[in-house]
Amino acid sequence: MTAPLVMAMPGNEALAAGLAATLGAERAALETRRFPDGETYLRLLDEPRGRSLAIVCTLARPDEKVLPLVFAAATARELGATRVGLVAPYLAYMRQDRRFRSGEAVTSRPFARLLSETFDWLVTVDPHLHRYGALGEIYRIPTRVVHAAPLISAWIEANVAEPLVIGPDRESEQWVSAVAAAAAAPWSVLEKVRHGDRDVEIRFEDLGAWRGRTPVLVDDIISSGRTMIAAVRRLAEAGFAAPVCIAVHGLFADASDRLLAEAGARVVTTDTVPHATNQVSVAPLVAEALRAVAASA
Ligand code: R5P
Repeated sequence: MTAPLVMAMPGNEALAAGLAATLGAERAALETRRFPDGETYLRLLDEPRGRSLAIVCTLARPDEKVLPLVFAAATARELGATRVGLVAPYLAYMRQDRRFRSGEAVTSRPFARLLSETFDWLVTVDPHLHRYGALGEIYRIPTRVVHAAPLISAWIEANVAEPLVIGPDRESEQWVSAVAAAAAAPWSVLEKVRHGDRDVEIRFEDLGAWRGRTPVLVDDIISSGRTMIAAVRRLAEAGFAAPVCIAVHGLFADASDRLLAEAGARVVTTDTVPHATNQVSVAPLVAEALRAVAASA
């Protein structure tokens, strides 16, 4: 099967180039800008007639990205693309998965409906599955999920002597234990109590047996950074060395990258969201998933 054309939405060029190189795929380009009134102008520079197309667009800060993305996919179809898939290494709107207060939007559901109506398939990396067991519960298109855990384990093994892998909350237990096992390291999970978007409390039992090891905090997302910052502070109070904080998706709202550095942590992320802390590339695994889903969808 011919590899799909690979097209990057603005800001996704590096990952798109890596995917195209791995797959031996051709790139397609687009031009986009804002009209003075803030609306989007978009033009496909390479017509996709008769070809299948993979659009690469990470969805951190999604509200500004989604309309241009929908316009690009719709235009590709109008211009004859046979299939249009989405590679969204960070998939947004997965965390509002329940109505916590009456009247709240459970945004994960309409967002999944929108993407399912727009694309033929979806590839993503470690979506935040908390109350949903799988993407198929809300997405109606074929999906492939890439897991960054093996890449994170390999990074820890290569870069941290005597690590203690730590998850910030009980939900992370399954994930953190797998990362630790592959890195041949001990692990533990902390107790997280979230009082608000930016108000997080971390508690833990005695970790004294592991003092002397380097704590490696592992989480799927750093957003406000409050989870990681609270954990970094508590570990310092307990007499641990400065930790390494690893996240799959570094969203870094509220300048939390700077706040974490000021708290003494070394921060490492994968390249699902482009950032100076990217040290682990998901491109080879995403390319494999793209090849598989594009062949089957
Ligand atoms: C929550 O369940 C996630 O796994 C992360 O712990 C959370 O999203 C981190 O958010 P923040 O950086 O805002 O504390």
